[in-house]
Amino acid sequence: MPLLAIESTCDETAAAVIGRDRSILSSVVASQEKLHARWKGVVPEVASRAHVERIIPVIDEALGRAGVDRENLVAVAVAVQPGLAGSLLVGLSAAKAIAAVLGIPIVGYNHVAAHLYACRISHGMRLRYPCIGLVASGGHTTLFHMFSPLELSRLGGTIDDAAGEAFDKAASLLGLGYPGGPEIERVAHSGSPTAYRFPRPLARDHERLDLSFSGLKTALRYQVRPVGGPVREPPRGKTLADLAASFQQAVVDSIVAKVDLARRRTGCSTLAVGGGVASNTLLRAELIEWGKREGVDVLVPPPALCTDNAVMGAIAWERIEKGDFDSGDLDITAGTER
Ligand code: KG4
Ligand code: ZN
Repeated sequence: MPLLAIESTCDETAAAVIGRDRSILSSVVASQEKLHARWKGVVPEVASRAHVERIIPVIDEALGRAGVDRENLVAVAVAVQPGLAGSLLVGLSAAKAIAAVLGIPIVGYNHVAAHLYACRISHGMRLRYPCIGLVASGGHTTLFHMFSPLELSRLGGTIDDAAGEAFDKAASLLGLGYPGGPEIERVAHSGSPTAYRFPRPLARDHERLDLSFSGLKTALRYQVRPVGGPVREPPRGKTLADLAASFQQAVVDSIVAKVDLARRRTGCSTLAVGGGVASNTLLRAELIEWGKREGVDVLVPPPALCTDNAVMGAIAWERIEKGDFDSGDLDITAGTER
């Protein structure tokens, strides 16, 4: 009997039906990208309201596509942290109502750990522990030493912006759309990654596993609009492509440098990667290349399992199999786990 997973931490309303063998019976993601595009970032109030409108249709569609009757669900899993409070509450309320009506258990899961669990879905038992976990998303850029799907020890992470946030802000500075990551990637395609030498903050600090992207963002800002200079039109053509490619390369270099340090620190020979930024072609290619050089098995899920989805809620099976459930007073923990 499968479980129903619900995800509403930020601006995607998602539901999935997943078998005990971790097979994906269905996965539905309703993106709010268009709603937030004009603000070039997620507006929490708008996100919560959109979740309220979409959550029931999304769940119904997931059950319908899977061909599973509600009565056959074994449990309902829901992301309860971290994320936007209003958004999380919508998913949790829906999950509680379903669990109460059907008389089935509820299991809350951590969205960040779930991003890494996507590797278990895409790569099966190649995800071996202990391993290094890298989550690069709109809210997180964090490295973990992982001992099991649910045991994550934080090694380091960003001290300011997350990588996805940096992509989003850079895209805005360059006059591109939202979300910024895919836009920068698209434009960077025809640019030179060495045209501009942007900083790789903390990359040469071999002591700390921390990352920083705000200086990089500022460097781009001053390149686009020098101090005291006139307000210019956003760059175009070759200049735009070169700026995007050089920025993207700096983000990727910063991340690969810290992954390499994490490998030296932990001695792990498996790297699990997750989060929206992991759908970036350059980051995927460079991590895989690095893995080949270092003898590390690098696992990156397909892009649809990197950006927010409910399939990664399959992590709840790890608890269900141990008979570990939550009670009716399950609550959310909002915010960002830096
Ligand atoms: O994991 P995710 O869907 O949501 C969060 O948990 O934050 O990640 C969204 C972030 C956004 O900042 C978006 O710009 C970034 O992932 N992103 C990318 C790409 N696709 C999405 N960044 C770089 N390259 C991409 N192709
Ligand atoms: Zn996410």
